Amino acid sequence: MGVEIKVEGLTKSFGRQVIWKDVSLTLPAGEISVMLGPSGTGKSVLLKTLVGLLKPDSGSIMIEGRDLTTLRERDLYEVRKLFGVLFQDGALFGSMSLYDNIAFPLREHTKKRESEVKDIVLEKMDMVGLIGSESKLPGEISGGLRKRAGLARALVLDPEIILFDEPDSGLDPVRTAYLNQLIIDLNDAIEATFLIVTHDVNTARSVPDNIGLLYHQHLAMFGPREMLLSSEEPVVRQFLNAQRQGPIGMAEEKDADELAQEEAAGYEMPPLPPIPLQLLTSDGKSRPTQREPGAWCKDNNVTPPPGSFESQGTATGIVTPDPDDSSQNGHRTDHQPDGAVRPERTEALTPEAGA
Ligand SMILES: Nc1ncnc2c1ncn2[C@@H]1O[C@H](COP(=O)(O)OP(=O)(O)OP(=O)(O)O)[C@@H](O)[C@H]1O
Ligand SMILES: [Mg+2]
Repeated sequence: MGVEIKVEGLTKSFGRQVIWKDVSLTLPAGEISVMLGPSGTGKSVLLKTLVGLLKPDSGSIMIEGRDLTTLRERDLYEVRKLFGVLFQDGALFGSMSLYDNIAFPLREHTKKRESEVKDIVLEKMDMVGLIGSESKLPGEISGGLRKRAGLARALVLDPEIILFDEPDSGLDPVRTAYLNQLIIDLNDAIEATFLIVTHDVNTARSVPDNIGLLYHQHLAMFGPREMLLSSEEPVVRQFLNAQRQGPIGMAEEKDADELAQEEAAGYEMPPLPPIPLQLLTSDGKSRPTQREPGAWCKDNNVTPPPGSFESQGTATGIVTPDPDDSSQNGHRTDHQPDGAVRPERTEALTPEAGA
């Protein structure tokens, strides 16, 4: 049911360039976390460090009682089997069919017979809606399908932890919405621990259980989604609301002059937008690790922005109010099995729909 990753005091530099320092966070078992941050703040470096491909200068990464940063290569190899990674570019072999690409980790890391390999590959291809594309080459399919193939390959070793590096980059908004639904459904089905790096603010607002923000060589904040979406902290606020005004500039950090100019111009941050409901599974259920809407705010005596949790936003952030659909007004949980199914979601796992 997924494993926890506990990172403490992690620092990484290349030569004299410090990428980030003193990063501490816990990815709770089975939960979905999103990592945001301006380009070049070291999100991909963080993922590569978590999976043991890069060695940090200091700090620890605890997984199942072992510190990944101190393991010898042979033990590291074992721990890596817990991970499935979807790299930023999909990283498929161009001359291999999708089937062979997805079978690759099984042939490389296990002694399974070809008949077993086939069962697993087809099962995962089915999960991500790729059945029928087995013999296609990566160059022959759309970017959306390539992402799905990368995802299927990340799944074949039944990982406990899945790291996604910008699974949605280069996808149009509709495909991004399908991909987000796929991520929610996958997490519900396999209950692994997910960490997703994305630049998509709508994804960050509606998909994860937790959000983190890397900025200016440190982890500005990491915590439950509602904590960040109700935060007044200027960097968090600017980033999660995709605003130009605030401490983040074109070259990551605005200089004092620019900020002073903004202040002199009397610019005030607009009010926080409502916190959207978190995306449910395709059949309208909460995932096992999903919290009740507003639970974090209530537990911490935080008043959410007006209008929060009121209507069912979709992964694209577009709200489609439907007065006849009572499920729009709240989170359906196992206590309210009214069985209503939203048609646009039931198609999320079919091949035609996704890519
Ligand atoms: N192997 C490496 N050797 C030296 N420098 C590196 C290496 N890998 C990454 N860097 C540097 O680390 C910094 C962070 O890179 P990284 O790719 O993690 O950024 P990112 O946050 O993922 O950006 P983006 O959002 O554009 O993908 C960059 O300045 C990059 O040049
Ligand atoms: Mg990156």
